[in-house]
Amino acid sequence: MNANDIRELKEQALAEAAAAGTAEALEAVRIRYLGRKGRLPEIMQHLKAIPPEERPLAGRYANELKQTLGETLAARKAALEAAGGARSRAPFDPTLPGAWRPAGSRHPVTQIIDEAIRIFHGLGFTVADGPDVETEWHNFDALNTPADHPSRDTQDTFWLGDGTLLRTQTSPVQIRVMERQPPPIRIIAPGRCYRRDTTDATHSANFHQIEGLYVDREVSLADLKGDITHFARQMMGADVKVRFRPHFFPFTEPSVEYDFSCHMCRGKGCRVCKQSGWIEISGAGLVNPRVFEQVRIDPEAFAGYAFGMGVERIAMIKFGIEDIRLLYENDVRFLEPFA
Ligand code: PHE
Repeated sequence: MNANDIRELKEQALAEAAAAGTAEALEAVRIRYLGRKGRLPEIMQHLKAIPPEERPLAGRYANELKQTLGETLAARKAALEAAGGARSRAPFDPTLPGAWRPAGSRHPVTQIIDEAIRIFHGLGFTVADGPDVETEWHNFDALNTPADHPSRDTQDTFWLGDGTLLRTQTSPVQIRVMERQPPPIRIIAPGRCYRRDTTDATHSANFHQIEGLYVDREVSLADLKGDITHFARQMMGADVKVRFRPHFFPFTEPSVEYDFSCHMCRGKGCRVCKQSGWIEISGAGLVNPRVFEQVRIDPEAFAGYAFGMGVERIAMIKFGIEDIRLLYENDVRFLEPFA
């Protein structure tokens, strides 16, 4: 190494500093030349080996390398910071749209359930719960539906083996509540139900019901009609009509099915109500004494009413949804208007 090598190294270092475009690149140049294991300490080591007559010149170049490179690096660093600073000081434009963060909302099925809980709360009902995986006894036998009963066929069941199944209705919650609690009883039980139904615009293999049960010394069909009608008016609006039709369920006697007038066409007939003006909500009736016997409630001393409600049905007529499948696809374009 001679004086000339040192001069060239100095020029190379200055060129590299001039080319560095980021703070990191500048730091790399500094470390390469001025760092503890960089080129400058190496040169200083070598100075002793340079012939005495050349040494002053070599020393000058080495000093220049140290000094000019240091200055150039500092100047470049200041320039880069000034440019970055200018960017961050760009004027704030308050007319630009804000960053949009999509917010979640309650699903229409949940909205109906929450609203039903609120309405029945006003009538003194509390919320009860039961398992989705039920025993055959709770879902059928205790509800006066023995194995050979023809009405079991209408509820095509997902059997799980060893006496368990996916509940086909929320009615087993009636049994669970009466098993553990003496009358008076006023509960509703919202939840999922499962049936081996082929899915179409109005059927799903997995849907929701709200069960209602009221047991006390004196409960009549008039209480049932009054409470269901109150519910319908609160849920659908004061002008809704409620229709009760005679029907059969093993666990109620007498039994009815009940309909709400179609909210979409106000009873005139439309696609949602299949031109009938009415939408079937579910079944109801007075608790069959044979059910009371199963749970050791004295049918001579107590009476009760029970009802079911199809949550999706209510959601469909309340919100004008023509296909039940839309409720399960979770397409945000469909769900957004319910926010
Ligand atoms: N569990 C019945 C069904 O799913 C509805 C119902 C509930 C009927 C309570 C009467 C009493 O069809």
